[in-house]
Parts: sequence; C-alpha cells; structure tokens
Amino acid sequence: RETIIIDCDPGIDDAVALLLAFASPDEIDLKAVTTVAGNVPLHRTEANARRIRDLAGRHEVPIHAGCPRPLLNPLVTAADIHGKTGLDGSELPDPASQLAAGHGADVLRTEISAAPGGIKLLPVGPLTNVAHAIVARPELANEVSSIVLMGGSTGPGNITPHAEFNFHVDPHAARVVFESGAPIVMHGLNVTHQVRAKADWIAALRALGTKVGDTAAGMLTFYDSDNDPALHDVLTVGYLLWPELFSGEERRVEIVTEGVEAGRSIVHPAGDGAPNATVIIEVDAPEFLSRLLDRLARYS
Ligand code: BDR
Ligand code: CA
Repeated sequence: RETIIIDCDPGIDDAVALLLAFASPDEIDLKAVTTVAGNVPLHRTEANARRIRDLAGRHEVPIHAGCPRPLLNPLVTAADIHGKTGLDGSELPDPASQLAAGHGADVLRTEISAAPGGIKLLPVGPLTNVAHAIVARPELANEVSSIVLMGGSTGPGNITPHAEFNFHVDPHAARVVFESGAPIVMHGLNVTHQVRAKADWIAALRALGTKVGDTAAGMLTFYDSDNDPALHDVLTVGYLLWPELFSGEERRVEIVTEGVEAGRSIVHPAGDGAPNATVIIEVDAPEFLSRLLDRLARYS
C-alpha cells in the first residue's frame, strides 16, 4: 500500500484523479490533499477538492490550501477548459466539509520529512507548493520516496507551442523541482494525450447510473469539449495502481524559465546528460480506460 499526498488544482482531470485515488483504499493511503492556484484561483481549487471529497465520502482525508500564486509570474488560469468554477458540468453543491488548518506547502514539508522514504508525492498542478517546500527544506529531495507528476512534454506544448500548462504557469517552480535531485516520474503531454475520454467511454460512465458516474460524465462532457479530452492528471494515480501499463526512460530534463519558450521541458536524448527523471513514454490506453471505469464503478 502506497502512502501518498496529491497536490492539485481541480480542475476536471484533477477531480477524476482524486476520485480514482479515493476509490482505491486497498492500494492507496491518501494522507492529505494540498491545493494550489492553477486551472482556477486557489479559493476555487481548494473548494473543488472539498466538493470531490464530499462526493467520495472520504472526510478523514484532510485538505489544505497552499500557494495562491506562482513564485514569480502572475497567475494564468485555464477557465476556458475547466469552466469558471473549475468543475463546470459537474453540478456539485458547495462544499459541506471544512478545510484543514495549515498551509499546503508546510504540510508537504512536515509530512514528508516526518516519514523519510515513506511518502510518494503526486503533483498534478503548477509546482509552486512543491518548490516552496523544497526551498524551505532541500533535504526533502532525499526524503520523498518519489515525485510522480503530470507536467511538461517531450514535444510540443498545449498552452503555448512550447510549453505544457502546469510548467508554463510556474516555470521557476518546475525548475526548482527538476534541479532538486528528487526522484521524479514525469507524465507529460506525450503520454497523457494517449488516454482520451471519447464519447462512448463517457457514455459508459453515465450508464453506471451513480452520482460519481453522472458527475464525472458531466464534467468530462464539458471539459475541452472541442476535442476528445485527455485524462492528463489521472495517469499519475493510474501509474501507482497499475505500473505494468506504463513504460518510461531515464532522461535529463531541463526547464526553460524565461522568454517565448518559458515552461518548456527540454527532454534530452537518452545518454545525453545525467538523468534527473523517468520520462513516461507509453501507456496501454485501452486497458487504462477499462480499469479506470471499473474502479469508478465501485462508488455506489
Ligand atoms: C494540465 O493542465 C491542467 O489544465 C490540467 O489539469 C493538467 O494538470 C494539462 O496540461
Ligand atoms: Ca491539474
């Protein structure tokens, strides 16, 4: 059983990632959820995490709000993709449960340092909280079991031609994390674009006839409605549950922080430079989607 913390900015794909983790208590001990500004401002990402926790009925998992803005740059949001609320299409009520005391970045630092080698961190939003924690305590890089993140790309970006959204929103934080020496597993657009929620899969979700099925189907119908939406953040939780579906390579990854390429992840060819990340290259998408549906079907 893996003990993990999810650092997120829900966000529709973040919400599905949380639902997958909450549905997997045998494999995943979710110690805390921390939130960050990203897809929408912080007051919405933290409220959305609580709305999803209410839906999953897992009130014992604390949710902490973290950084309201990137380290250096002004916040850029993605309300065009996730809606003004961040979970448009979901029809979820306002949260009924409370936020836990303590700043998200402090929680990352104290929890990980208190259990060296025992906690995996899953960041699926801008890396501001993670960088903040590492700057406050550089030893975290050795104390965290691994950082399994969604961000970057081996090729083109999504928010700019060069950069993926999470790295672009806080490129300086991404640089801090990649230069920290922590063991990183990177799920970039090159792999997350392989897993698409097509209309027939969303229909199968709705056909579950449950609140979770309806909510997820509603959100995913709204999400990136021009395209078959990629399930980005969900892959990090899937990787913990079903590592056999994924393959990756040890590579050197550099983050561009300034200029037109800000937020770009330069993934060096194999053998070029000392590797600082396992870059995920491939996933068995049909199997992933089928297991994800089965897991979400566990909610009554
Ligand atoms: C990432 O950006 C956000 O919009 C998604 O939640 C995901 O974390 C994809 O580029
Ligand atoms: Ca996200």
